Amino acid sequence: MELLGNTEHKIIFGDVFEGLQSVADESVDLIFADPPYNIGKNFNGYIEKWDNEESYISWCYEWLDLCIKKLKPNGSFYVMTATQFMPFFDIYLRKKINILSRIVWNYDSSGVQAKKHYGSMYEPILFCVKDKNNYTFNANDILVEAKTGAKRKLIDYRKSVPTVYNSEKVPGNVWDFARVRYRMEEYENHPTQKPITLLERVIKASSNAGDCVLDPFSGTFTTSFVAKQLGRNSIGIEAQEAYVKIGLRRLQLADEFKGEKLIKEPRTFETKQNQASPMNFSLFDEQNPILRGTLIHSGN
Ligand SMILES: C[S@@+](CC[C@H](N)C(=O)[O-])C[C@H]1O[C@@H](n2cnc3c(N)ncnc32)[C@H](O)[C@@H]1O
Repeated sequence: MELLGNTEHKIIFGDVFEGLQSVADESVDLIFADPPYNIGKNFNGYIEKWDNEESYISWCYEWLDLCIKKLKPNGSFYVMTATQFMPFFDIYLRKKINILSRIVWNYDSSGVQAKKHYGSMYEPILFCVKDKNNYTFNANDILVEAKTGAKRKLIDYRKSVPTVYNSEKVPGNVWDFARVRYRMEEYENHPTQKPITLLERVIKASSNAGDCVLDPFSGTFTTSFVAKQLGRNSIGIEAQEAYVKIGLRRLQLADEFKGEKLIKEPRTFETKQNQASPMNFSLFDEQNPILRGTLIHSGN
């Protein structure tokens, strides 16, 4: 295990258990956990697939317990996994922590989805708190447009004094955020990068400036990156060196790592050669007219 970064933004390069054990108990305000989903994704050459579902689930129970231990008594915990494993998480966690919301992150998909069943268009997120009478929830910082009030300008005549409907509201538990696409500015070379917009909602709602936000499976360090933008402190744990390098660069914690300059790899359309010819498309480029409509999104 290697500890990188500075006092505000720590990167722990190592396994989730070693990483979490190095964090003081009851010291973290907010945890966002987006683990491998046991669906065979390739994390920089490491294929995340357990021998069977039982071993994946018991591995998860171990780090779920540790996460709860690291949370402050008024802390919040957001956790994701594949739809088929979330029921296990839910039943396990509800005995240990208060599940306040079962969130569906719904997204659009380019490409053709499944043809013989209903394609996967969402990922579940549990929002839990240790103490349901004492936790941070900055509702006013995450308000969204209330369609009725903002667009239709209706008046609520049920009130003693007729009042216009609110034009803003606290979001419900179905969240629409676009997935990170190849052409988006925030894109990094990682198969399951989460969007900045999603983490903005989580971090704004469930932490305050100066709080400690921890992500035990950091990937491209979206959580730490957004935490930094919003004036929170961060701890990110990640097992793959390639992704640790992304974190160091994204958080501007280092210019180089082990003698290697940390530079964002240019995407195909950013190189001079490809700019010159509009017919030069990459296999992963959603603008590729041949592949558009044929790429199959497989969720996280
Ligand atoms: C679903 S991804 C997280 C993506 C991240 N939320 C983002 O926005 O980029 C899971 C990450 O966990 C890392 N990982 C897998 N097993 C791990 C372990 N045992 N300890 C620490 N990190 C691990 C993988 O390398 C991968 O980057």
